[in-house]
Amino acid sequence: MGLSEHAFQKCLSSKCGSQFDLSRALVDCPHCGSLVDIQYDWDRLPVPNALADFSQFWTQRNNPTRRSGVWRFHELIPFASQDLLVTVGEGQTLLQKADEVAKYVDLDPGCLFLQYEGMNPSGSFKDNGMCAAFTHARAIGAERAACASTGNTSASLSMYCSVTRLMKAVIFIGSGKISYGKLSQALDYGALTIQILGDFDDAMDRVKQVSQKLGIYLVNSVNAFRLEGQKSIIFRILESMDWQVPDWIVVPGGNLGNSSAFGKALIELKQLGLIDHLPRLAVINSSGAKTLFELYHEKGLRWNKGLPDKEIELQYFNKMESDQSKASTLASAIEINRPVNLHKCLRALDACDGVVRQVSDQQALDAKAKIAAGGMGCEPASATSVAGAKILREDGIIGKSDRVVCVLTGHQLKDPNITVAYHSTDRQEFERVLGGYGVKKASFPNHAIGVPNDLDAIIKAIKLYS
Ligand code: F0G
Repeated sequence: MGLSEHAFQKCLSSKCGSQFDLSRALVDCPHCGSLVDIQYDWDRLPVPNALADFSQFWTQRNNPTRRSGVWRFHELIPFASQDLLVTVGEGQTLLQKADEVAKYVDLDPGCLFLQYEGMNPSGSFKDNGMCAAFTHARAIGAERAACASTGNTSASLSMYCSVTRLMKAVIFIGSGKISYGKLSQALDYGALTIQILGDFDDAMDRVKQVSQKLGIYLVNSVNAFRLEGQKSIIFRILESMDWQVPDWIVVPGGNLGNSSAFGKALIELKQLGLIDHLPRLAVINSSGAKTLFELYHEKGLRWNKGLPDKEIELQYFNKMESDQSKASTLASAIEINRPVNLHKCLRALDACDGVVRQVSDQQALDAKAKIAAGGMGCEPASATSVAGAKILREDGIIGKSDRVVCVLTGHQLKDPNITVAYHSTDRQEFERVLGGYGVKKASFPNHAIGVPNDLDAIIKAIKLYS
């Protein structure tokens, strides 16, 4: 009972590699400042012989932890005992075959799948990780939790605080453009909301300082327990595909927590002999926040067996500072210049023969319209996955008959202003909301039709337009 004695925290750097027990709330290695990972002594843990063995847990849906799409896979996230697990019903999400969207991406019918994480209780993938962070926080008796957020982490944290009453939420947001859908969640759930003059990267720096000074539990994705929970997105994708590995997994890249968690999940599954090969991973930046793209694609930064070249990073971030360059994109969820999980993402790219691409806001919003018209709707940042798959297909990197999973990270209703402006007939409104981001036109608009309040006119309009 309690935190597992067969799990430990380990510094990511292959030069340092220090180990710590699970009772500490670490956001980096106290010896060298690198990220830390949760590692397991798998030989001493009960791991099923085959992934298909997890199917039996579907019959235990009256048990809240087996009902959870995260804790259904507890044996692959075994850092705490069953009695400690926190769940609010996260991870009941869907892998949807989307042939209409496949046409847009230029994939054969039956080849494109959308993993719709907007179905989570707070409307984004964050709940997958938050239940794991809360489990750890509960085990070590934390009373307050904090995060910096572009909106979804704060919505998720606030919701878990309000439902479970385990901790009080303190959230840090920048003064820029958090979408109202997300801000309204945090306010309504009763989080202490600190808005600072600055952007997400500034808020992230501050929350780290404040949580250290005040002993507040930090739930940003530097929290390695959160990433343990996010591994379950991969488990559910495989479950929905009858445990077959797809050719590609495509995911938006912001703070790079998801891509990092996906890589770790896949590496572990292979180590455990539960899959025989890894899919390829594509991480998609917005061109208004393209740190990973530039470092990986243009500067050649690589995992390098756990020792990424610090000089390349240093030069890059120094230049960013001297240019006072700030991230700027309509995909506000990923408007991040200094991704905290950069090194873990490099590890994932290394293991999964990965690629990194950037897409413009025009490409993301057009993809978003296509996703909603042919599948489940999503918020702008999520649509970068489909926009990215499309350019990888155009470049011939993704094959026409490859089986591709695009992860839709957040719900359509998170950011309705952008959607309404995109479909608006009012050019001024279009320009006001989208104009500053290089979006020239809505390639796939669905305009509302103005009709007089008159039965004949209404009937005529319906006949004309349908
Ligand atoms: N998609 C959505 C909808 C997000 O909210 C985020 C991150 C990402 C993608 C990027 O994911 O960090 O794992 O690469 N949102 C964070 C937040 C930063 O504060 O809500 P990542």
